[in-house]
Amino acid sequence: MVQISEVKDSQSRESRTAAHTHIKGLGLDEFGNAHAIDGGFVGQKSAREACGIIVDLIKSKKMSGKAILLAGGPGTGKTALALAISQELGPKVPFCPIVGSELFSAEVKKTEALMENFRRSIGLRIKETKEVYEGEVTELTPEESENPLGGYGKTISHVIVGLKSAKGTKQLRLDPVIYESIQKERVAIGDVIYIEANTGAVKRVGRSDAYATEFDLEAEEYVPLPKGDVHKKKEIVQDVTLHDLDVANARPQGGQDVLSMMSQLLKPRKTEITEKLRHEVNKVVQKYIDQGVAELVPGVLFIDEVNMLDIECFTYLNRALESSIAPVVVLASNRGKTTVRGTDDLVSPHGCPPDLIDRLLIVRTLPYSADEIKSIIAKRAKIEGLALHPDALNKIAQQGVATSMRYALQLLAPAGILAGIAGRSEITVQDLEECQLLFLDARRSTTVLENTKGYL
Ligand SMILES: Nc1ncnc2c1ncn2[C@@H]1O[C@H](COP(=O)(O)OP(=O)(O)OP(=O)(O)O)[C@@H](O)[C@H]1O
Ligand SMILES: [Mg+2]
Repeated sequence: MVQISEVKDSQSRESRTAAHTHIKGLGLDEFGNAHAIDGGFVGQKSAREACGIIVDLIKSKKMSGKAILLAGGPGTGKTALALAISQELGPKVPFCPIVGSELFSAEVKKTEALMENFRRSIGLRIKETKEVYEGEVTELTPEESENPLGGYGKTISHVIVGLKSAKGTKQLRLDPVIYESIQKERVAIGDVIYIEANTGAVKRVGRSDAYATEFDLEAEEYVPLPKGDVHKKKEIVQDVTLHDLDVANARPQGGQDVLSMMSQLLKPRKTEITEKLRHEVNKVVQKYIDQGVAELVPGVLFIDEVNMLDIECFTYLNRALESSIAPVVVLASNRGKTTVRGTDDLVSPHGCPPDLIDRLLIVRTLPYSADEIKSIIAKRAKIEGLALHPDALNKIAQQGVATSMRYALQLLAPAGILAGIAGRSEITVQDLEECQLLFLDARRSTTVLENTKGYL
């Protein structure tokens, strides 16, 4: 007999942990107060509460064109906070994270790259009420006729489509052009589709759940039979970013209405996005906003390691923040006073020029106490599936205080491996000590370097 065992496919995903896997949100209550341990966060209360206010402002759309700086030492959770902000905002608000150094490439001008990311972080929600025919396909018969141009071949003169909804059924006689798009969407009998009355665009919604079987292998989305009549008005909501629209319209045959902009998404970019084109896109967008068809959703542009930007980028950023459609810009820096990149002697806090600093709301992240470090390490150990002996936890927390939390966090995984080799299920102090011998922290490594001359 053939043996069949179940394969759990989610396992690989669970065992993969990244640096911020444990962060699930800001962990605030309904009054915006931070609990000491919540949302994956430990401590850093006032910074979390400040970020909570920022999230509220973004949601109420009072925040666009403003900028926030998360400032604090390395490993104090700035990147984690930015991630939590994006989680609080939800998937419908664009969040575009970049690192300062990302803007410097040989192919694209740095200000151009900055602008592109600006536009990636501004969303547009387009609501259109469309006249549609929607239902489950009950019949799909192309009708052939003699080729009107003579010859032997036959052509499709039209196609009969039967649609069934909760309230009734309808038989439609459609143009062959629509038949082509039906074929493109791979529509079969039993699928739920809608056909836009004006344009004839066909969209497959999914498979009708009347056809759902228990042992279907393919990842099919089952949808209920549409409510109401077959012929009706339906509100269709689409979320795109301004950058998507730029890309769509950079193609030579770009249309001007929303639909043709949409339909061009995902195709390879052929021509450059110019300032003029962006201007055109803005005009169309403005028109849709005025007509009430579209709504602007300013999102967040997060620039980590902002001290990596140079003075040109900073002046550009200043100007871009003042434009009428701008996202919220969140910056992060772990630098104190440093020279601004691209200048010889302009020393400024956080590596940002004074005129930008002036526009910022600054949120400070503070170094962690020993207890907080201990809780964070315990959290990480749990996420990484490692068990720590209480003594080992104390030891690694001390390590975090003495060197850095990052170093302590890094030690976890190798210590886990050492424990595994020794056949223990728990990491002990001994494993940690061995790890410390194998892997140096920054300070010990520097001491080694200071005491050596010439080659290492
Ligand atoms: N308050 C916290 N609660 C839980 N985990 C935290 C907290 N703060 C930081 N971490 C975790 O510690 C690690 C370092 O934090 P993070 O990368 O956010 O630091 P950072 O401030 O961005 O540092 P850098 O300035 O070096 O970029 C990450 O794994 C992060 O998820
Ligand atoms: Mg960081």
